[in-house]
Amino acid sequence: MTEKREYTGDYPDKTLYIPGPTEVREDVIEAMSQPMFGHRMDRMTDLYTTIVEDTKEFLGTDNDVIVLTGSGTEFMESSILNLVDNDVLVTTCGSFSERQANVAERLGKDVDTLEYEWGKAVKPEDVRERLEESDADYDAVTCVMNESSTGVRNPIEEIGDVIAEYPDTYFVVDAVSALGGDYVDIDAHGIDVLFTSVQKAFAMPPGLAVCVVSDDAYERELESESASWYGGFQRSLDYYDRKGQTHSTPAIPVMLAYRKQMKHMLEEGHDARDGRHREMAEYTREWAREHFGMFPEDGYESQTVSCIENTQGIDVAETIDAVSEEYDMVFSNGYGSQLGEQTFRIGHMGEHDRESIEALTDAIEDVAGL
Ligand SMILES: Cc1ncc(COP(=O)(O)O)c(C=O)c1O
Repeated sequence: MTEKREYTGDYPDKTLYIPGPTEVREDVIEAMSQPMFGHRMDRMTDLYTTIVEDTKEFLGTDNDVIVLTGSGTEFMESSILNLVDNDVLVTTCGSFSERQANVAERLGKDVDTLEYEWGKAVKPEDVRERLEESDADYDAVTCVMNESSTGVRNPIEEIGDVIAEYPDTYFVVDAVSALGGDYVDIDAHGIDVLFTSVQKAFAMPPGLAVCVVSDDAYERELESESASWYGGFQRSLDYYDRKGQTHSTPAIPVMLAYRKQMKHMLEEGHDARDGRHREMAEYTREWAREHFGMFPEDGYESQTVSCIENTQGIDVAETIDAVSEEYDMVFSNGYGSQLGEQTFRIGHMGEHDRESIEALTDAIEDVAGL
């Protein structure tokens, strides 16, 4: 039984190096603090059309964009409802891709999995083999871009190129914890649906999920027997076309923050943001290899979350507590009971830069006596 623990409001500020939520700029936090307005006012149309069109521009996509109140998991569910009548192939290589399989099973779909050991990446040739050899007519294949539990970056571009050869099979990408910190050319690789949450590499307060939807996926939903109401592509996109607003009441303050942060992101640009994240990732890997090891398979390390193998047998939980206590910085243990002490994770995403990551690794070295 959980008991109430009164929120006191009295907590020290901590710098976040976890795989989301991550650090949010002060002016973005401040943007939320405004008198409320109605979601059917003209002002809402200004706000929503601005964030949608700015997002398309930032991502360089001609596909449609939905910004919906909820977290990324909403689109894990609605993508399946909107695109899959029967068979779906879910590639799994860690906790979040396994969640995608659970979600699809829960929705009553016929789920096949292409499973990889945690730490390994999904390979396009295996996807091809499965598509060629399976008797199932898959309505969709899913893949996580960045498996936050293991720090693996899957080659979704190559996987998308394979799936593009199967025009009746839609490709769904979970880009939570990657998008905005790891460049992806969405339109060039047959990606029908790609979704993220804003509290990750977009560096916004949580509360919104973003979904990029191809024309084909929109059309497919029209024929689907199980399309989602709340997360229906059609409902959101048609409402946008007619009114430039959302179909139901959105988290307006978070959208105000989104507008502000997306302007910063546009100013930096998708490419430059990618470069800054690459630099942080390379630095973190080099540091990790000097003191520990990297958990992911070589060549598939994430650009936004490093999962570090605890080869020194440090007490991960104790180190995290001490770094938090002494330096007011928070990083993550390994995921779940499987990786809890065997690995630890550093989120180098959003507003961080190489210098701020170095401040964390210095703190870990100090506390762990490396
Ligand atoms: C890869 C991945 N997918 C999905 C999710 C779920 O996102 P949300 O908590 O926004 O629903 C997460 C959260 O960490 C994630 O890292």
